[in-house]
Amino acid sequence: MTSPLLLPYEGPHLTLRNRIAMAPMTRGRADDVTGVPNPLTARYYVQRAGAGLIVSEGIWADPLGKSGPGVPGLVTDAQVAGWREVTDAVHAAGGTIFAQLWHVGRLTHPITLPDGAAPVAPSAVRIESQQVFTARGDVDHVTPRALTTAEAEGVIAAFAAEARNAIRAGFDGVEIHGANGYLIQQFLAENTNLRTDRFGGSREGRIRFALDVVEAVTAEVGPERVGLRISPDNPENEIAERDPRGTYRALVDALDPLGLAYLHVIERGAYQALADLRPRWSGTLIGNYNGPEATGQGAGEEALAAGLADVFSFGRLFLSNPDLPSRFATGAPLAPFDPATVYGGGAEGYVDYPEAPVPAIR
Ligand SMILES: Cc1cc2nc3c(=O)[nH]c(=O)nc-3n(C[C@H](O)[C@H](O)[C@H](O)COP(=O)(O)O)c2cc1C
Repeated sequence: MTSPLLLPYEGPHLTLRNRIAMAPMTRGRADDVTGVPNPLTARYYVQRAGAGLIVSEGIWADPLGKSGPGVPGLVTDAQVAGWREVTDAVHAAGGTIFAQLWHVGRLTHPITLPDGAAPVAPSAVRIESQQVFTARGDVDHVTPRALTTAEAEGVIAAFAAEARNAIRAGFDGVEIHGANGYLIQQFLAENTNLRTDRFGGSREGRIRFALDVVEAVTAEVGPERVGLRISPDNPENEIAERDPRGTYRALVDALDPLGLAYLHVIERGAYQALADLRPRWSGTLIGNYNGPEATGQGAGEEALAAGLADVFSFGRLFLSNPDLPSRFATGAPLAPFDPATVYGGGAEGYVDYPEAPVPAIR
């Protein structure tokens, strides 16, 4: 029987060759000074163009939103030109690619930011339990500076400008990164948002920043080209959500009428986000499980069969198996990835994972 992952998908705004998405993965190989993608990046994504949908690595919307060395931007003309080479190559290979729009908020360091600037965040709440990777190695986090209301509005405008640049660069659409403890989730979570202006306080205040980003981006490029990624109840990066069900139901209820391209839900904590949010979302839903091991084919198939998602995204397996959809189709063995070459460096561990040998015809 054909795997449900391999069936074409026809959604309200998305037509995909299969239901396998390549999850966004930071690879840290851009030019660290210019933020322009590596010349090998087009080849890396073309190798994975068999995905129904590629979501690019997180790309910063603002220099203060950069997480660490080698993370690309989508702000300057040179960055747009660099990404244009990538999207042209992916399209020539028959693929579909969205750009992930990213601002990391407090999850960076003055070593990474222009002129040694302090990281910005909803509130001045420092990460205590982990370090941050910089060009000088792992270092302790500093206390971020709380954005003023006007500055928060400036960041929203930066997301909209990045979306405009993404379309100029030839991306088929954009995915707003609202997950994994970065800036947007720092606004959503009670422990990182201590604000008293319209972006804080009540639940309505905490979801306001995310809603304003989505509205600004959709006004710029149209809702049918906009996805949002969320990770309810994900404790990564010192996020503690007291009421994920209440927060994300309110967020999804407010977003559903907008007619977005998709909602991309990472399930990680105790809260069963896919089961809870699926009935509240009338558009395309992309599922993702973020556990200690790379998510396998069976888990994605079960999620589709249970109606929890329309499309399922795979990260780690795609990193080391460029032809993942055809391996799922043929049952070819899956290669593990080499943790030493995940971030930074050059071709090794980036564009040299081989395709599976074509099975012999008997
Ligand atoms: C090397 C690496 C880099 C990642 N970078 C990003 C990123 O830039 N943006 C994002 O939303 N998620 C990022 N993730 C999370 C993945 O998109 C995905 O949610 C996670 O790997 C779980 O899926 P998997 O079990 O299929 O790997 C990253 C994961 C890995 C392994």
